[in-house]
Amino acid sequence: MKSIQGKVGWQSPSNIALVKYWGKYGRQLPKNPSISFTLSEAHTKTYIDFEYDNNQQGLELDFLFEGAPQASFKEKLVKYCNSIIDELSLLKHLNLKVSSTNSFPHSSGIASSASGMSAFVLCLLEIEKIIKNHDQLDYQRASHLSRLASGSASRSVYGGLVVWGDSEYIIGSSNEFALPLKKEVHPDFKSFHDDILIISAEEKSVSSRAGHALMNDNPYASSRYAQANQHLKEIVIAMEKGDMDTFGSIVEKEALTLHALMMASQPPYMLIQPNTINAINAIWAFRKSTNVPVYFTLDAGPNIHLLYPSRFSENVKSLKEELISFCHNGKIIEDKTGLGPSPLS
Ligand code: PMV
Repeated sequence: MKSIQGKVGWQSPSNIALVKYWGKYGRQLPKNPSISFTLSEAHTKTYIDFEYDNNQQGLELDFLFEGAPQASFKEKLVKYCNSIIDELSLLKHLNLKVSSTNSFPHSSGIASSASGMSAFVLCLLEIEKIIKNHDQLDYQRASHLSRLASGSASRSVYGGLVVWGDSEYIIGSSNEFALPLKKEVHPDFKSFHDDILIISAEEKSVSSRAGHALMNDNPYASSRYAQANQHLKEIVIAMEKGDMDTFGSIVEKEALTLHALMMASQPPYMLIQPNTINAINAIWAFRKSTNVPVYFTLDAGPNIHLLYPSRFSENVKSLKEELISFCHNGKIIEDKTGLGPSPLS
């Protein structure tokens, strides 16, 4: 009998898409390529105490979130593990005690699936590495397995700019896994700020899962997928050249298109709120009057991500003071681009 016990831990960040993944097919495959900045402050830390026993038949898993049991997330993890058992067969013989914490407050309106699921997958692969005596963790496999848990999680396993999805413009790109952008971008894009304006911390009325599904009958779907392919190419060229105007124009068009697609779904729905629009108008007015390169993007929710190169941090302060009035409890989470996940000892 072979029995191995141990403890592993990984910290993994969230990411913000510049060109959005919206619409999927098959087994969580994207209808168009996407590109994101990996963040640094918004992350999940996950530890797993594990016991591997050849004789054990069937996975056992316990889950604590911020120190307390969380039945719905545990159920999600068990379901996910069962769905990948063909690819990670040692799960059948594992007893896992998983414990996770997020750096960002619960109900802050920040989606945690990208950081949470990538941290969990990295822990599973760390366990596999120990049991199979491998000397390196396979990040491509981590991205692939994270994708099966949550599409955007595939991009969280690398730092910097990350591409997920087939693009004829990006060599080696794939729908199966993400990869770090190999092109040399202008230094401004190596250190970007993302201040997350919490317009609302409430749970979304329509989940991302339902939103992706509604793309199947969206009358604008095919032109959207063509646009995203074009945007990916254009934004990468803009970042290589240091063309901030084109970068900003694509990023904002992507955010507004995402929400326009929601409004054009059947049934239509809206996740932005009056203060989302108030904040956008304030950002546009500020940029027009100051020429400071500060832009916004949106996830599938009402919160604004305020994006600008680090060297403009001082210039953006007065805008942030103005934007606070649109935020729930005046809350802004200050984040920036990061280096990707790291193991915890
Ligand atoms: O990974 P999911 O299924 O939660 O979808 C994420 C979709 C967006 O956040 C709106 C865009 C993206 O590419 O991250």
